Amino acid sequence: MRRVFSGMQPSGEPHLGNLLGAWVSWVSLQDDAECIFCVVDLHAITSPAEHDPATLRSRTLQLATGMLAVGIDPSRSTLFVQSHLHEHAECTWLFNCVAGFGELRKMPQFREKSEGRGESVSAGLFDYPVLQAADILLYHADEVPVGEDQRHHIELARDIGQRFNHRFGEVFTLPKAVHPPAGARVMDLQDPTVKMSKSASSEKGIVRVLDDPDRVVKKFRSAVTDSDAVIRHDREAKPGVSNLLEILAAVTGRGVDDLVDEYAGQGYGTFKAAVAEAVVERLTPIRRRYDELADDPGEVTRILADGAQRARAIAAPTLREAKEAVGLLLPA
Ligand code: TRP
Repeated sequence: MRRVFSGMQPSGEPHLGNLLGAWVSWVSLQDDAECIFCVVDLHAITSPAEHDPATLRSRTLQLATGMLAVGIDPSRSTLFVQSHLHEHAECTWLFNCVAGFGELRKMPQFREKSEGRGESVSAGLFDYPVLQAADILLYHADEVPVGEDQRHHIELARDIGQRFNHRFGEVFTLPKAVHPPAGARVMDLQDPTVKMSKSASSEKGIVRVLDDPDRVVKKFRSAVTDSDAVIRHDREAKPGVSNLLEILAAVTGRGVDDLVDEYAGQGYGTFKAAVAEAVVERLTPIRRRYDELADDPGEVTRILADGAQRARAIAAPTLREAKEAVGLLLPA
């Protein structure tokens, strides 16, 4: 069975974009692949703006709980917290000595995040993609399901793996990125030209997985659309309506064309209410399951401990092999 690895940063309350863009596809991957999912807290501390110690800790637990609530199944998949394994940081060091300064400096995400911050940006932010390469390569992952924005990071992981193997012998499996379908790209409700994300300008534009039904309804009611009052799909000309159509399609499993036929001629008010209702229906069981798990934090902690143990069973031998290949003297 092929092995899949993916990770998510605990940097904000999970939203509809995380659910439809990543989690839904992760949940179904469990049916035909061996899946390993990681809460990447070491990545989260590379951005000072997001690094508040107490918040980081609670968000890490919250993200793991959310992943279980949507259907990551610990009896089939491995779910763990990155910092629970020292192997990731240690492998990063080996890769640091293989990765080039030039290729890291050119990473689009680094350029974006460091822009305007001059010399104050952390070395951790610079090294972020190398840590990500370690995440993936330690597990011999065949596939990495990620958003399009991660394409360069996965290519770098391949390059690092390939260079390492070439220089020191075959240790690592070269992974390939797999991207979820385009429809899974959820846009901000207030500014449908940008992705729904933690950095959105207003809370009104982001639907949280744990928002109660009233809030969800309010957010959809105030979603930005346009003034021509026609329900049709056109991302360029009608980003707001198109986003709502895609959200409705994703939560109901129906096709966009089918929905356009059904809602043709109806007002935006009715349409928005229908989208809100479908989203509420999708979120309600998740919220219920989340509350159950949150009432029993010992259970989540136990699942994470078990996940770390299973992850280590794969990562530790890989790291040992890599250290040996490099020529480090292994302790007796
Ligand atoms: N950089 C990824 C993101 O922002 C998160 C991540 C870290 C990741 N390590 C990973 C994704 C390994 C896939 C595999 O989305």
